[in-house]
Amino acid sequence: MQVIEDIDILDEDLDAPKMTAAEAEGTRQVYLETYGCQMNVSDSEIVASVLRKNGFGLTHSQEEADVVLINTCAIRENAEQKVRRRLDHLRADKTKRHRDLTLGVLGCMAERLREKLLEQEQLVDLVVGPDAYRDLPRLLGEAEETGQAAVNVQLSKEETYADIAPVRYDTNGVSAFVSIMRGCDNMCAFCVVPFTRGRERSRPVTSILSEVSQLVEEGYKEVTVLGQNVNSYRYEDGGRAVDFPELLYRISQVSPELRIRYSTSHPKDCSDALLRVHREQHNICNYIHLPVQHGNTEVLDRMRRTYTREQYRQLIARARTICPGISFSTDIIAGFCGETEAQHEDTLSLMREVRYDHAYMFMYSERPNTYAARKYEDDVPEAVKKRRLSEIITLQRTISEEKNRTEIGAEHVVLVEGPSKRSDAQLCGRTDTNKMVVFDREDYTQGDYVRVRITDCTSATLMGEPLGPTTLAAEAGRLAVA
Ligand code: SAH
Ligand code: SF4
Ligand code: F3S
Repeated sequence: MQVIEDIDILDEDLDAPKMTAAEAEGTRQVYLETYGCQMNVSDSEIVASVLRKNGFGLTHSQEEADVVLINTCAIRENAEQKVRRRLDHLRADKTKRHRDLTLGVLGCMAERLREKLLEQEQLVDLVVGPDAYRDLPRLLGEAEETGQAAVNVQLSKEETYADIAPVRYDTNGVSAFVSIMRGCDNMCAFCVVPFTRGRERSRPVTSILSEVSQLVEEGYKEVTVLGQNVNSYRYEDGGRAVDFPELLYRISQVSPELRIRYSTSHPKDCSDALLRVHREQHNICNYIHLPVQHGNTEVLDRMRRTYTREQYRQLIARARTICPGISFSTDIIAGFCGETEAQHEDTLSLMREVRYDHAYMFMYSERPNTYAARKYEDDVPEAVKKRRLSEIITLQRTISEEKNRTEIGAEHVVLVEGPSKRSDAQLCGRTDTNKMVVFDREDYTQGDYVRVRITDCTSATLMGEPLGPTTLAAEAGRLAVA
């Protein structure tokens, strides 16, 4: 029982709405709610920008809105169910109180289901896929004029929204996402993303660098560079190709006080050149999210991940040699098609070997039209999937707690994100290695770099005492002297 509750909590956290819109200006008020991954959060900032340029206002209040847009996720069935429950609620609201409310579904679920969504979900007025956001004002006009649903789910081979300056709302003003590419060409057997986001394409270098510079000017201290597989970033710039290590290097040069993270890095092409940029640039965080998905080579092969357990282990070892102290997080899927008990044990043993600092752990959910749905049987019983996932979660919790315990006494540079959830008298922020630290507020404020000594921990959080303000440049100097 305990375990199933834990699974629910995990899904709840991952699929919870990430933000709602702010700023009341313009005539028609739009309420925008976002589900799914960081990429979707970043897309909602594009949507907000397109709408604002076209005279729409953004509101935090669903009740005040003339237009409600839900930016959706299709990665697992329960992500879609969550959106459907939300739509039920909004539909009831629309029928009861506000008949001319326009209700729109954006994002991956819109792309996956297309017109079908209109049959399944009555009263939806708008279905717009991730590459069609420039068309939103026209579609909204059309839906409102004709009273008929408007749909644009065209995927593009070129669209990167490179010329659109994202409107950052619900932001802490410290940390921002910067999208560098869209789509995915990898076709992992379980994954719906290539269907919902189309072909991989990279955004021009100059547009990325100018967005990062703008963020620095606005006082941001951290960017997370986003793509489904950032390692395959490639852009022809003045006749030569810029790859991800070079792009990351150039981003790191924008400001010595800007911290840089990125996600997601596919293990199949995480190169030594990339690891060297990590080591050499003091403002690139010593942390990689490196989703393994599974610990057994045969399952990895069936998942079409294109690396073996051994190759993955070697990559971790190489990264630890090139970048001492680097921390890793991962994604793991339990109960993939045909997974035997012994293969599941291989996932657990890989976790024991690598000792991830953090993991996102999921139960396999069959997605229509994927390679796995077409070729394999989803044959691991639900109860077995749940039990295996709970074993994975329990093991990760133990590892995270053990690793956090070894941090007690250590000093870290923490970038303050804001007040801690529990108390205004305390602040929270992350270490370079992406661990959340809570400490007494004293005179520190959002956006400060603070040197903190760790005094205690749970499996999820470190507690510490602030030792003094610092800068990334000063810390780099300290390391060089040491
Ligand atoms: N581009 C990223 C992953 C994006 S999806 C990458 O390749 O790492 C985020 C995570 O959701 C995946 O890493 C995977 O662990 C999980 N996921 C994707 N499809 C899933 C499915 N059908 N069932 C369960 N988990 C899935
Ligand atoms: Fe999905 Fe694989 Fe692409 Fe990640 S790399 S988005 S898991 S197909
Ligand atoms: Fe979900 Fe689409 Fe992201 S399916 S995880 S919102 S790319």
